[in-house]
Amino acid sequence: MTISHPSRKVMRRAAAVIRSGGIIAFPTETVYGLGADAFNPLAVARIFEAKGRPLFDPLIVHIADLSQMSRLASPVDKRAGRLAGRFWPGPLTLVLPKHTAVPGIVTAGLDSVALRMPDHLIALDLIRRSGTPIAAPSANRFGYLSPTRAGHVLEQLGERVDMIIDGGDCAVGIESTIVKLTEGASIILRHGGIPAEEIEALIGPVKMDHDTAKNPEAPGQMPHHYSPSVPVELAAGIRQIDFSRRDAGFLLFRKPGFDTPADRTLFLSESGDLKEAAANLFSCLHLLDRMEIQVIIAEPVPETGVGAAIMDRLRKAARRKKGADADQDPEAGEEA
Ligand code: TXA
Ligand code: MG
Repeated sequence: MTISHPSRKVMRRAAAVIRSGGIIAFPTETVYGLGADAFNPLAVARIFEAKGRPLFDPLIVHIADLSQMSRLASPVDKRAGRLAGRFWPGPLTLVLPKHTAVPGIVTAGLDSVALRMPDHLIALDLIRRSGTPIAAPSANRFGYLSPTRAGHVLEQLGERVDMIIDGGDCAVGIESTIVKLTEGASIILRHGGIPAEEIEALIGPVKMDHDTAKNPEAPGQMPHHYSPSVPVELAAGIRQIDFSRRDAGFLLFRKPGFDTPADRTLFLSESGDLKEAAANLFSCLHLLDRMEIQVIIAEPVPETGVGAAIMDRLRKAARRKKGADADQDPEAGEEA
């Protein structure tokens, strides 16, 4: 498998692959996706197979135009219109009542469908040229770190996909925020690129879905997602990190006022900028995962704005460690 640069010819070929039932890794502003024609159940099945993803975990359908919504979701209420108007294209996924035309494999048999309009020229171009909405999860093996550059996809999925389109590094670097809109409530199923505060400012109070870990309606919320192979420990704070540990790599939010082991320390953002930290999170974890270390020790980040999404990913990565949090969560430590 080679990585293709997005010339017009490559984009035409990519659209032809989607139309004929193939699967393609493509960049979005959040993370790379692995896409197929959302209306072709066999093509969508190939995505699950390539990722090793269980069929009960539904996919997000990506659109390039608001007019595509009516074929996918019905009814579309006022809140959806307001959120889409403000945040699309962008890192927000809306879970809405599903249109009967959407194949069951896309939604894992649920009566709702997740929709997103990505803010990335290559993704939008691919959807438009293919002439169909594109169902796409993140382009990683199930349970492992999300890819934020084409090389990450190549390492994890290689020959399992028909094509990888290179769009460079993902600008947001963390997955979309998922909001489920039901008649009675608006619920955040996953923290992501759009802070919960900004969603509340637009549509009023939202609930946080703390129960999904036990009841995986959005199985991306399972406790052991987003994990590198090396165990992650989340420190209580920078002062609690033992920098003398020779078996550890350190993932720090910002540059502290003292020296740390230079060859084993990565900073999410030297200046302590949360957006920059989010953009660097997965590529830092990919880098640390390749080092000769036994553990990644991470500093917590402030839980405001996109910081909530970063902490969510770090906590889940930390729970992967065998035995960790075992009393809180019986599933912790299982292989995803
Ligand atoms: O930023 C993103 O959202 C990226 C890019 C590629 O768009 N996609 C992504 O997809 O993160 P994935 O499959 O890795 O995560 C999607 C999450 C899963 O946790 C899935 O369970 C949830 O969305 N989901 C999908 N459809 C749903 C539905 N109908 N109801 C509840 N959760 C749903
Ligand atoms: Mg994912």
